[in-house]
Amino acid sequence: MDKIVVKGGGALSGQIPIAGAKNACLTLMPATLLSDEPLTLTNAPRLSDIRTMTTLLQSLGAEVTALNGGRVLALSSHGLNNHTADYDIVRKMRASILVLGPMLARDGRAIVSLPGGCAIGARPVDLHLKALEAMGADLDLRDGYVHATAKGGLKGAVVDFPVVSVGATENALMAATLARGTTVLKNAAREPEIVDLAQCLRRMGAQIEGEGTSTITIQGVDRLNGATHPVVTDRIELGTYMLAPAIAGGEVELLGGRMELVAAFAEKLDAAGVSVEQTAAGLKVTRKNGRVSAVDVRTAPFPGFPTDLQAQMMALLCTATGVSVLEETIFENRFMHAPELMRMGAKIDVHGGTATVTGVERLKGAPVMATDLRASVSLILAGLAAEGETVVNRVYHLDRGYERVEEKLGNVGAKIERVREHD
Ligand code: EPZ
Repeated sequence: MDKIVVKGGGALSGQIPIAGAKNACLTLMPATLLSDEPLTLTNAPRLSDIRTMTTLLQSLGAEVTALNGGRVLALSSHGLNNHTADYDIVRKMRASILVLGPMLARDGRAIVSLPGGCAIGARPVDLHLKALEAMGADLDLRDGYVHATAKGGLKGAVVDFPVVSVGATENALMAATLARGTTVLKNAAREPEIVDLAQCLRRMGAQIEGEGTSTITIQGVDRLNGATHPVVTDRIELGTYMLAPAIAGGEVELLGGRMELVAAFAEKLDAAGVSVEQTAAGLKVTRKNGRVSAVDVRTAPFPGFPTDLQAQMMALLCTATGVSVLEETIFENRFMHAPELMRMGAKIDVHGGTATVTGVERLKGAPVMATDLRASVSLILAGLAAEGETVVNRVYHLDRGYERVEEKLGNVGAKIERVREHD
């Protein structure tokens, strides 16, 4: 298993290009199942999760061709000949559940393995299933699979989500585009990835209004066409790399960054003493002076502070002056980076969904373990300014969501290298 070695060093400077959003691409790709005409996605990120989704769609008989080094994905489900998404693929990536709604909407049937839980929580899919049932699907859960049918097709419905769910909103939105009649999604997720999906579906001929607000209304149509759509910039990669100069000092410009993608996060950085400025090319981040100040963080659905940036923000606050309180409200077990940061000398008290961080002058490099995608990158960020060497093991978690992290950080002056370990 590869590992990443980071040596604490000086200030960073230069530019980091931000890729297309993993979490947008993972819902845009299954949208190909809604039409038998070609769907082309540009600005696609080159990540192992994208390759997993490719394998899943191909197992259903869809064609997915990576062009231009993986930056362009040419998809077609014209040859769809299998409606079963197998456990051995689904267990690797929970987003696999996003083939359920589109497949059901297109052909009235789908068999999809229930995704297991994952490191950060149980992550049930009950809201996905309730939404599809409201639209007329018959669901039979047996031997770990959802056997879904919709005789005569799905029909429009009012779906009122008790909890904001990104994935359930995406599954219901895609299914509703081909349902008979009108669907209204209430308490829908407002993430930029949902807006991106709606824009792509509209290019395919879907009739959608209200994306980005809590109420999305969809008029079902008989069929959707092909389209070409650029994947939106990855706001989580953007926020992650904004923290590099915040932690290590210096000034870095994140190419393609847009303030509206990370407004709540940028506000917290500003309060901590990190300046974020929109330039023509992206977002320029500079740490104003000396140590950052402690700030309190509470994660929330968009437009609140993203749960996917909580671990990375904690890495910054470990060396802030003062005490910061981080409240994780989305997932029940998303502080696994805390014990690893404590191995580096951080002072963190975790009680349930709240972590209290008392800032220290400087962290000390240490061998640490990545446990999930965002926790692993928070350890690399912490290593940028730690004294000595930090070795992050199990970086396969990292490669799920970050393209060539050692290259992107190395290019702005970080002392970082990937050590290939032959198993
Ligand atoms: C998406 O996961 C993202 N993944 C996650 O990013 C992100 O953390 C999450 O949204 C929240 O923003 C992708 O888009 C592929 P949810 P998702 O449904 O859709 C509960 C990363 O690091 N819930 O919004 O699975 C759930 O347990 C990943 O890139 C139910 O109870 O998240 C959680 O507590 C990690 N029943 C809350 O809702 C359901 O049916 C929010 O989950 C669905 C969700």
